[in-house]
Amino acid sequence: SLPRGAGMKKIVTVLGARPQFIKASVVSNALRRSGALGEVLVHTGQHYDANMSDVFFDELGMPKPAYHLDIHGGGHGAMTGRMLAEVERVLLYEKPDAVLVYGDTNSTLAGALAAVKLHIPVAHVEAGLRSFNMAMPEEVNRILTDRISRWLFTPTALAAAHLRREGVADALIVPVGDVMYDVALHHGARVDANGRMLGQLGLKPAGYVLTTVHRAENTDDPRRLSVVVSALLAVAARIPVVWPLHPRTRGVLERQGWLARLSAAVHLIDPVGYLDMVELERHAAAIATDSGGVQKEAFFYRVPCITLRDETEWVELVEAGWNRLAPPLDSDAVSTAVMGAVGSRGQDVEPYGQGDAADRIARRLSADLGA
Ligand code: UD1
Ligand code: UDP
Repeated sequence: SLPRGAGMKKIVTVLGARPQFIKASVVSNALRRSGALGEVLVHTGQHYDANMSDVFFDELGMPKPAYHLDIHGGGHGAMTGRMLAEVERVLLYEKPDAVLVYGDTNSTLAGALAAVKLHIPVAHVEAGLRSFNMAMPEEVNRILTDRISRWLFTPTALAAAHLRREGVADALIVPVGDVMYDVALHHGARVDANGRMLGQLGLKPAGYVLTTVHRAENTDDPRRLSVVVSALLAVAARIPVVWPLHPRTRGVLERQGWLARLSAAVHLIDPVGYLDMVELERHAAAIATDSGGVQKEAFFYRVPCITLRDETEWVELVEAGWNRLAPPLDSDAVSTAVMGAVGSRGQDVEPYGQGDAADRIARRLSADLGA
């Protein structure tokens, strides 16, 4: 347990999935720099492979979590329920002044719910995003988390507008910008222009398409996944394709018997660390993804993006022409969209703040907690 110095306030941060480690890298830093907030990290264990978890702590200068709950797999109820019980035990022991959670995963909901039941105020980073698709586990997680949070740190003007329309009091909504933009400025800038990934894979700048796929609605629906696979095979016949495979997706492709055919045509690689990923993103001719974070990173590096979904939470980029939706329903339409994106550009927009979201979060929490 962290000793509480005079005037210091204690924050327990609950995280567990890849994008949360990345987001926390800048926010934890800002909390530490504030000098007034002590942070205790609780890793739920939701993501556990070294290349889905440890690599980010090592690369992005994050302290090791004080607690590792080692909870993963199982159904949504089993996973979230076990996290809820274990996070509650930690909170009862640590007695923090606030609990901080990120995004929309099962770890987010478990952390927020455990806290609110103990009357500990919840800070939600990346509040207010909506896909308006309640079949997505993420939509359920984010709506419920927003509903029980005391600070709703919003990444975009639209996210704040969604919350207002849902009747959330203005006093709870704190527009700060997107912490992923902070990360891109802070850590993305460390990536060497002639990094190792391109050399290793034998790729040329602007000479390949980068893809990532992990959403349940794509991986768990064999029809949609087969459309993604056929579309990427068609793209790979024209330009090299690099696909860092999320373990969930690797598992499904293996079970469907598609892995051998794919690996003959596509650079299938294991998940990579953040710095290698940024290198791959920066030099891609186009990116095809169902990831939330990767859609924005494509824009940060001004690479055209095709989103392999029916809808997106990051509509600003669709409106600005940097991103297009290509639902995996028809493989010709998807491969045409990907090839059509190559060489395209959007308008100059700045929807994600100034790159100081983490500092704004730390300042607001210090002020409100009287630290
Ligand atoms: C989760 C989040 C999703 C987020 C994504 C980020 C939920 C409901 N979903 O999806 O919002 O976009 O993380 O990547 O919280 N696995 C491994 N090793 C790992 C991690 C996962 O083998 O280190 C495999 C396991 O078989 C696991 C499966 O992937 O059961 C799915 O993992 P899970 O965390 O449930 O969902 P994600 O698809 O990763
Ligand atoms: N990412 C990474 N290695 C990979 C794939 C993704 O470091 O092999 C990073 C990516 O650059 C982005 C984040 O992980 O910063 C996005 O996470 P993910 O796609 O898992 O989840 P989402 O953003 O959709 O919730």
